[in-house]
Amino acid sequence: MKETPEQTDTVPSGCPFTGFGSSKYHPMNRKFMKLKNYQNGQEFVDTLCNQAHEDTPCQPKHCGGSVMFPRSPEHQDRPRGTPRSQEVLLQEAKEFIDGYYRSMNRPPSGFHQARWEQIQAEVAKTGTYQLTTQELTYGAKMAWRNAYRCIGRIQWNKLTLFDARSVTTAGQMFDAICNHIKYTTNKGNLRSAITVFPQRTDGKHDYRVWNMQLVSYAGYRNEDGTITGDPANVEFTEVCQKLGWKSPKGRFDILPIVVSAGGQDPEFFDIPEDVILRIHISHPKYPWFKDMGLQWYALPAVSGMMFDCGGIEFCACPFSGWYMSTEVAARDLCDPQRYNMLEPIAKNMGLDTSNYRNLWKDQALVEANLAVLHSYQEANVTIVDHHTAADSFMKFMENEQRLRGGCPADWVWIVPPMSGSVTPVFHQEMSRYIVKPTYSYQVQAWKTHNWKKRDGSEAVRKQQRKFHFKEIAGAVQFASQLFGEALSRRVKATILYATETGKSETYANMLGQVFSHAFNAQVMCMDDYDIVDLEHEGLLLVVTSTFGNGDAPENGEIFFKALQNMAEEYHLMMSSTNTLDSVPDIKKPFNPAQRIVPVGQFARSQSTPKGMSVTEPLSKAVQNMSVPNTPDRTGQNGDWQRWPSVYSEAPAGSLANVRFAVFALGSSAYPKYCQFGKDVDSLLGHLSGERIEPVACGDELNGQEQSFKEWAADVFKAACDAFCLESDSVMARATERLNSDKAASPDAVRLMQTHTADDLVPGLGRCHGRQLISCTAKHARMVHEKDTGRSTINVSVTSGGNPSKLKFKPGDHLAVFPRNRQEIVNAIRRRLIRCPEGPVELQVMRKVTTPLGVDKRWEAHQRLPRTTVTDMLTWYMDVTTPPTPNMLRMMAAMATDENEQTKLKLLATNGEAYEEWKFTNWPNLAETLAEFPSIEADGPFILCNLPLMQARAYSISSAPDYRPDEVQLTVAVVQYHTRGGQGPLHYGVCSNYLNEIEEGDRIICYFRNAPSFHMPENKSDPIMMIGPGTGVAPFRSFWEQRHHEKRRAPEGTKFGPMTLFFGGRSRAMDLYAEEKKDMMQDGVLTKCHLALSRQPGVPKTYVQDQLMEQHEDVLECLTNPNGHIYVCGDCTMAHDVYLTLEKMLYTKAGMEPEQAKLYMEKMRDSNHYHEDIFGITLRTAEVTDKTRALISKKASMDKDTGADRLPKYRRDSIGVL
Ligand SMILES: Cc1cc2nc3c(=O)[nH]c(=O)nc-3n(C[C@H](O)[C@H](O)[C@H](O)COP(=O)(O)OP(=O)(O)OC[C@H]3O[C@@H](n4cnc5c(N)ncnc54)[C@H](O)[C@@H]3O)c2cc1C
Ligand SMILES: NC(=O)c1ccc[n+]([C@@H]2O[C@H](COP(=O)([O-])OP(=O)(O)OC[C@H]3O[C@@H](n4cnc5c(N)ncnc54)[C@H](OP(=O)(O)O)[C@@H]3O)[C@@H](O)[C@H]2O)c1
Ligand SMILES: Cc1cc2nc3c(=O)[nH]c(=O)nc-3n(C[C@H](O)[C@H](O)[C@H](O)COP(=O)(O)O)c2cc1C
Repeated sequence: MKETPEQTDTVPSGCPFTGFGSSKYHPMNRKFMKLKNYQNGQEFVDTLCNQAHEDTPCQPKHCGGSVMFPRSPEHQDRPRGTPRSQEVLLQEAKEFIDGYYRSMNRPPSGFHQARWEQIQAEVAKTGTYQLTTQELTYGAKMAWRNAYRCIGRIQWNKLTLFDARSVTTAGQMFDAICNHIKYTTNKGNLRSAITVFPQRTDGKHDYRVWNMQLVSYAGYRNEDGTITGDPANVEFTEVCQKLGWKSPKGRFDILPIVVSAGGQDPEFFDIPEDVILRIHISHPKYPWFKDMGLQWYALPAVSGMMFDCGGIEFCACPFSGWYMSTEVAARDLCDPQRYNMLEPIAKNMGLDTSNYRNLWKDQALVEANLAVLHSYQEANVTIVDHHTAADSFMKFMENEQRLRGGCPADWVWIVPPMSGSVTPVFHQEMSRYIVKPTYSYQVQAWKTHNWKKRDGSEAVRKQQRKFHFKEIAGAVQFASQLFGEALSRRVKATILYATETGKSETYANMLGQVFSHAFNAQVMCMDDYDIVDLEHEGLLLVVTSTFGNGDAPENGEIFFKALQNMAEEYHLMMSSTNTLDSVPDIKKPFNPAQRIVPVGQFARSQSTPKGMSVTEPLSKAVQNMSVPNTPDRTGQNGDWQRWPSVYSEAPAGSLANVRFAVFALGSSAYPKYCQFGKDVDSLLGHLSGERIEPVACGDELNGQEQSFKEWAADVFKAACDAFCLESDSVMARATERLNSDKAASPDAVRLMQTHTADDLVPGLGRCHGRQLISCTAKHARMVHEKDTGRSTINVSVTSGGNPSKLKFKPGDHLAVFPRNRQEIVNAIRRRLIRCPEGPVELQVMRKVTTPLGVDKRWEAHQRLPRTTVTDMLTWYMDVTTPPTPNMLRMMAAMATDENEQTKLKLLATNGEAYEEWKFTNWPNLAETLAEFPSIEADGPFILCNLPLMQARAYSISSAPDYRPDEVQLTVAVVQYHTRGGQGPLHYGVCSNYLNEIEEGDRIICYFRNAPSFHMPENKSDPIMMIGPGTGVAPFRSFWEQRHHEKRRAPEGTKFGPMTLFFGGRSRAMDLYAEEKKDMMQDGVLTKCHLALSRQPGVPKTYVQDQLMEQHEDVLECLTNPNGHIYVCGDCTMAHDVYLTLEKMLYTKAGMEPEQAKLYMEKMRDSNHYHEDIFGITLRTAEVTDKTRALISKKASMDKDTGADRLPKYRRDSIGVL
C-alpha cells in the first residue's frame, strides 16, 4: 500500500478511503473527500460522493475496501429477486430522468416535464415503465462512467447499445448475443457495446445470461484432482455438462452460451467457431513460446452483471470492450489458480525457480506480457498495455473532477496487477462509492434459478442448436415478422428530415421503409425531435434540403442551432483540456439569434469514420496502445472492470457513438449548393460522429430522385456493414422497395365515405402541424404602370375583426396557403377512379405485429383530413409540380396501353429522358394524365402519394404601426409559357390566387418570424436597402415604419439615413414609384437609386452596377460600425451583390482581398449584413437552362474521364457552379 504520511492529520481513524468510522468523516457529516496525488502533490476535493447511493462494504471499525463481491444492492434493500417498491422506483426514475435531461446542458424543455409525467402515469398503470432506447443508451454509458473498478473509462461515451428488450425466447437471446460478439469483435478492431435484454418484472421472470463472460474457456476437473482448461470455469462447465453439453475436454474449449428467457429453464447454444476470434500466443524473441500452445480470445465480454438504471433492473446485459494486456498475461495465464504458466515460462527462459532472489517470477511475468501484447498486435486485435491504460485513467479522473466534481474509483482494482508503483494510478488517492446508473454484481444464475421442468441437479435438458453465423443472419431474414421485428429492434435508425416543399420528407419516408428491413427505423421532422436524444442514437440518417441562401429549411433551424451549441460546447471543452493535437479553429462567435449562421469553420474539421482505427489523431500515450482493460482481482475473468476501454486521452465528442450519413437536397442553380446538408454533415462529424457514407447531394436540376435512390442503397449497405448485419438477400429486399411498384399498392389505400368534413383551417393546420390563422382579403392592386405585359400587385388582408391575430414586425413573412385552379382540379377529378362523392376519409392499411401474429388494420391517413376529393385536390395537394419518377412508375402500373406504359417506364427510370420531359413541359398532374389517357388513375393511391400543397412565403410590405389591422404584400404574378414560350400558359399557384381574390375572401396563412431581417434597434444607424423587382417588398414595411416613427418622435430625434437601391426592367415597372417620391419628400428615404435593365435608350444596369457607381455612399454605410445593409429577393442577385460589395472593399477601400472577405463575413456574423432570399425568382427559365447546359457539359466530360461510372450523387456532390 502506498504511504500516507498526512493521513493521521486528516483521517484520525476509520477507512482511509471512505473515512467511514471516524467521527469527523462520519457519513452523516461528510460533505466532501479530499484526495491527494503523492506523485505531484496535487489535491482535489471529491463532492460527487455526496450523490452515492449504496453503503460501502466498510464498517465503523473495519474497512472492506478489498472485498471482492460486496453485497449487491438487491440484498441491501429487499429480499433477493423481489422488484423494487413503486416509491423507490419512482424516486430513482426521477433522479435518472432529471440527470438525463440535465446532462445535455440545454435549457429546460417541455419534453422533460412531459416525459416525467408519462413515466409517472406508466408506473401508476403498469407498476413499472419502459426507458426509451436513448435513455437506455445514456444510462448504459453513465453506468460505465460510474464503474469505480474500471480503469478504461475515458471512452465511456463511446458505447454502442443493442436494444434487445423485445426478445422473448432463449433462441432470440442467443442470436442477439452472436450479433453482439460479431459486432464488437469487428475482425479484431474491437468496439465497445452492450446488449440489453428485457428488464426484471416480478423477479420470477428474469432474463439471464448464465455465463460470466460470453467467450470463456471450459475447465474440467480430472479424476486425479488436476484441472484441464480454465480452473475459473469448472463450476459453470459442470452446469453446462448437466444441461447436456458434450465437451471436447481440451485446454481451450469455448463454453456454450447458456441463457434463460423470462424465468424459463435455460437453454444452451454452441457459439459458431467463425464468430470467435482466438489469438495464439507467441513471443517476439523466444520461438519456444509458441510451442507452449497458449492462446486467448479477443473479446472480453462480461455477461453476469446486472444493469441498474432509473430504478429498473436489467439482469441480462452483456457488455464488452477490449483487453488490457496484464489481464490476459498476468492474471488469466499466470495466476496460480488459473492457467498457472509462470513457472513453465521461467523454466523455458532458463531461470532458476528454486528461490525468489533472482526475481524469476517478475522476469517471466514481463515476458508473458510482452508475448501477449506482441501476439494481439500481430493478429491486429485491439489491446492496451497497463501503462497507457493508467495514463488515460489519470486523464479521465482529471476530466471527471472538472466536469462533475469527482470520480468514484477503487484503488485496489484500478492499480494494475503488475508494476503498480510505476504507473501513476498507484500514487493517487481514490474514493470508492456507488453512483447510479451502475453495473452491479448478482448471484450466479444457476444458484438462484427456479427450475420449471426438472430439478437443476439432474437437469439434462438437451437443447442444442448449432449454427454458423451466416445461418443466423439468414434466420433473421426468413423468420416470422414478429421475430424479425424483435431482432431488428436491437438497432434503432433515426431518420431526420427538414424540408420546405416536402421532398426531403418523402425521401426520408422512403428511406424509413428501406431501413425497416434490418433496423428499427423511425422517421421524424427535425422540429419534432428532442435534441437531447441525439448523443444516444446508434444510427442517424439526415435528409434535408437547403433554403434561403445556403440556410436551413424553417423546420431545421432549431435543430441546427442546437447542433451548433453542442459544437461550441465541445470546442470549449477541447480548448480547456487541450488534449487533442489539433483543436478545430472556431473563430467565429455562435449567435443563435442569427438566421444565417457561421458554420464554414467546421468544414475543416471533417471527421473520418472513426471505428477504432489507429489512423485517428492520437495523443502520445495512445500511440503506444492497441487496446484496454483493467485488473481482475477475482481470479476469474467475468468482471466488468476488465472490460474498460482506454483508447484516447482526448474525450470524444458527444456524438462519438453515433454513426451517421446525410443526404442533401438542393439545386445547383444556387450559389450555395446543398449547403445546409453539408453543414449538418460537418457538425455531426465535428462532434465525433462516425460518418458511414460521405455527404451526398441530390440536385433538383439533375436527377435528384435517382441520386437519392443510389445513395439510399449505398447507405443501407454501409449501415448493415457497420452493425454487422450481413445478408445479401435482406439488402436486395430492402432496396427493392426503392424501385417497386408496390410502394403503397392501391389495395393498401382506400377512401371511405364519412358524414362530416373537417373545416379547412384546422384541417390544413393538422396537415402541416401548425397553428394557422384565417384572415380576410381586402384588395389586390397593381403597383406599377399598366400595359407593361406583367403584373406586380399589392395585396391587402385584414384580421377580419380580431387585430390581435396580426402579430408581426417589419421584415417578417406571411405564408399563404393557396388553392389550385379549378380547371386543373376538375380535369384531375374526372380521371380518378374509386373516389366516392361527398366527404371521405383516406385510409391506409397498416400491418401491426402482435403476440398473436401480424394483424392488418385500416387507419386514417395521419395528415389528410376528412373532406371531399375535390377539396383535397384544391387545398391540400400539390398538383402542379411535375410528377416525380416514382409517381410515373406508379402510373406506368396503372396504364393499360402498352406504348404509354413503355414511355412512362422510360421516364421513371431514365434520368436524362425524365429531366428533358420535365423541364420542357413542366407538366402538372392534369397535363400528365392527359398525355397518357390510358392511365386508370386510382384515386386513393394517387392522393396518398401526391406531395402536400406548401404555403408560399411573402415578405410583408407594410408596417403594423402604420397600418393597424392590416398586412400588405407585394406579389409578382407568375405566368409563363412552357416549351421555351411555345407551350401552354402556366399560372403560379399562389401569386395568381392572390391576384384573383375578392374583398371578403378567406385567406389562410401564418406569420414567419425573420429576426435576422428586422430593422436595427438604434434608429440613428444608417440603413442601406437593396432589392430589385419584388425584392423591394420588405423595404416598404421599413419605410412605413420609419414614417410612423418620425411622425411620433420628439423634436430633435436623430434618424439614420435610409438609402434604397431598386432595379426594374423599365421605368414603367418602377414599383411604388409615387410612394417612394412622397417618402423622399417627407425625409423618410434619404436616397433612391434606380437601375433599369430593359429601358430603351438606357444601358442595361443592375443594382450591383448602381452600387459600384455609388461606391462612396455605399462604403460610408459598409464601413460604419453601426451601418446595416439589407438585401432582398433573388438568390443569384443576392450572391452577386455580396461579391460586388466584397470587391468594392478591396478595389475602393484599400483592403486586401482576403481582408475584404473576412470583413464581409464579420458583417454577416455580427448581424449587420442581412439577407431575405426568395429563391431563384429572376430569370428563372434562363438560370435553369444555363445550369442544365452546364450539367450536360459536365456529364459529357465525366463520360470522357470515366467519372460517369460513379454514383450520380457523388458526381454532383460539388455542384456545377
Ligand atoms: C422568404 C421568401 C419571401 C418571399 N417573398 C416574396 C414577395 O415578397 N413577393 C413575391 O412576389 N414573391 C415572394 N417570394 C416568392 C413566393 O413565395 C412564391 O415563390 C412566388 O410567389 C411564386 O409562387 P406561385 O405559387 O405563384 O408559383 P408556383 O406555382 O410555385 O410556381 C413557381 C414555379 O414555377 C416555375 N416557373 C416559374 N417561371 C417559370 C418559367 N418562366 N419557366 C418555367 N418554369 C417557371 C418554377 O419552378 C417556379 O419555382 C418569396 C419567397 C420566399 C422563400
Ligand atoms: N408574368 C407576370 O405577370 C410577372 C410579373 C412580374 C414578375 N414576374 C416574374 O416574377 C419573378 C420576379 O419578378 P420581379 O418583378 O421581382 O423582377 P423582374 O422585374 O423580373 O426583375 C427585376 C430586375 O432585376 C434584374 N435582374 C435580373 N437578374 C439579376 C441579377 N442576377 N442581379 C441583379 N438584377 C437582376 C432584372 O433585369 P433583367 O431585365 O435582366 O431581367 C430587372 O431589372 C420573375 O420570375 C418574373 O418573371 C412575372
Ligand atoms: C427559396 C428557395 C431557396 C433555396 N435555396 C437553395 C440554396 O441556397 N441552395 C440549394 O442548393 N438549393 C436551394 N433551394 C432548392 C431546394 O433546396 C430544392 O428545391 C430542394 O429540392 C427542396 O427540397 P424540400 O422539398 O425538401 O424542401 C432553394 C429553393 C427555394 C425555393
